[in-house]
Amino acid sequence: MNTVLLTIAAYLIGSISFAVVVSKIYGLDDPRTYGSGNPGATNVLRSGSKKAAIWTLVGDAFKGWLAVWLTIHFADRLGADDTTIALVALAVFLGHLWPVFFRFAGGKGVATAAGVLLALNVWLGLATLVTWAVVAYAFRYSSLAALIASLFAPFYYGLLFGVEPQFFAVVVMCGLLIWRHAKNIGNLLAGKESRIGSKSRPAA
Ligand code: G3P
Repeated sequence: MNTVLLTIAAYLIGSISFAVVVSKIYGLDDPRTYGSGNPGATNVLRSGSKKAAIWTLVGDAFKGWLAVWLTIHFADRLGADDTTIALVALAVFLGHLWPVFFRFAGGKGVATAAGVLLALNVWLGLATLVTWAVVAYAFRYSSLAALIASLFAPFYYGLLFGVEPQFFAVVVMCGLLIWRHAKNIGNLLAGKESRIGSKSRPAA
């Protein structure tokens, strides 16, 4: 029963789209109406407001981190085993992708995945973030950095902890993240993807 309740709670937390909320607070256009149309920090940055983009990043990462951290931290009191932690990790991510509060039109999950990974294990999170940062610095594509980091994260998890329920959650999460970037992959291959900080509109 606790597993079901915790999974639902995590999904609801994940359903809070900080890109939309923060943009509203800053008086910006809804991020679903410009740029890539993605409610995420990268697209909010295209509005020209670095502050709004940073708060979006922090908020979306924080919700992923919070749901998983609380479940791990209070695992004994909540009766949460590894399977529950894995389901919570997946649920908060799924909430971001398909938020019940925003007609199930969510983001691509990069910041939320980062928060989830950091909460599962700080070294896992840091290794994945460093991978993201190296690729982002080298190529200036947020999407490419997220794609490469997503390919590496399951390996980092496997190397650190082996195959356990959370490993499968990481595999599914990264798989979904890559799938949500299908349009970005097409744009990257066609040389049409916009670089980090560019306000130009990526090809639809
Ligand atoms: O955070 C998502 C990023 O990887 C790509 O975002 O807006 O360029 O599709 P966007």
